[in-house]
Amino acid sequence: MPESGAKQITFKVQRYDPEPGSTPHSQEFNVPSSRGMTMLDGLIYIKENLDSTLTFRTSCRMGICGSCGMLVNSYPHLACHTQIEEFHSDTLTIKPLPNLPIIKDLVVDLTPMFNNHKSMKPYIIRHDTEEMDSPTAEFVQRPEELATFLQFTYCIKCGLCVSACPTSGSDKLFPGPQALAQCYRYCADSRDGGGQERLSLVSTDHGVWHCHLAGACSEACPKGVDPALAIQLLKRRLASQALGLRKKPSPSPVVSPPTETKPKIPFPEFTA
Ligand code: FES
Repeated sequence: MPESGAKQITFKVQRYDPEPGSTPHSQEFNVPSSRGMTMLDGLIYIKENLDSTLTFRTSCRMGICGSCGMLVNSYPHLACHTQIEEFHSDTLTIKPLPNLPIIKDLVVDLTPMFNNHKSMKPYIIRHDTEEMDSPTAEFVQRPEELATFLQFTYCIKCGLCVSACPTSGSDKLFPGPQALAQCYRYCADSRDGGGQERLSLVSTDHGVWHCHLAGACSEACPKGVDPALAIQLLKRRLASQALGLRKKPSPSPVVSPPTETKPKIPFPEFTA
């Protein structure tokens, strides 16, 4: 609950009701803001005190689940991860994320993004089916191999990069920065053998070659992921393959089951 004497901030929120005949319009709310209050706190204040019909999506309130993406002053943000005072403004304009269909008020339909993500086969593909069906041990991966794709595993699928991408806005067949970054994440995984299948999916006029390298996706990502880099690395893979400079990599082998079962350093005895 905001403190008494808190600064009044005007939230100009875009409202939209899916009922026929309804058109998007802006509605203003005065929100008392105190130090540390997030955009999400402000929206919860409106819902609890001013208008219970205001609709927005939230879950974790800690920048993990990716539910609360929205446009604040024309820039994509996670509402729970953005403090009101960051804007140094008495008026904030809040809209749903662009490039995705609006369901109601600030809630957008993320299905197109999830479908694109799924189309990239975001899982380890191996052709040694026997080992995959009945695993006997682990696939080897050195720390430096993990480092080649680790940052791309931090994606929380919030859709901020998709909403910031000008190509996603103009080409509905473009998979978008989120899906392309995940395509690279699995292609670069030394345990994976499905790179060829994925590269053929993105090597099209609507795939990586349609990225204009605006870089807005990487700037918008709240987790520090760089999808623009992933797209350039995919282009490099495709180009070096076309020039015959890249050998077909084989996925990492399975390590032999450990023979030593006793821990090398014994656990200390518990004494009361
Ligand atoms: Fe989960 Fe904001 S509520 S990321």
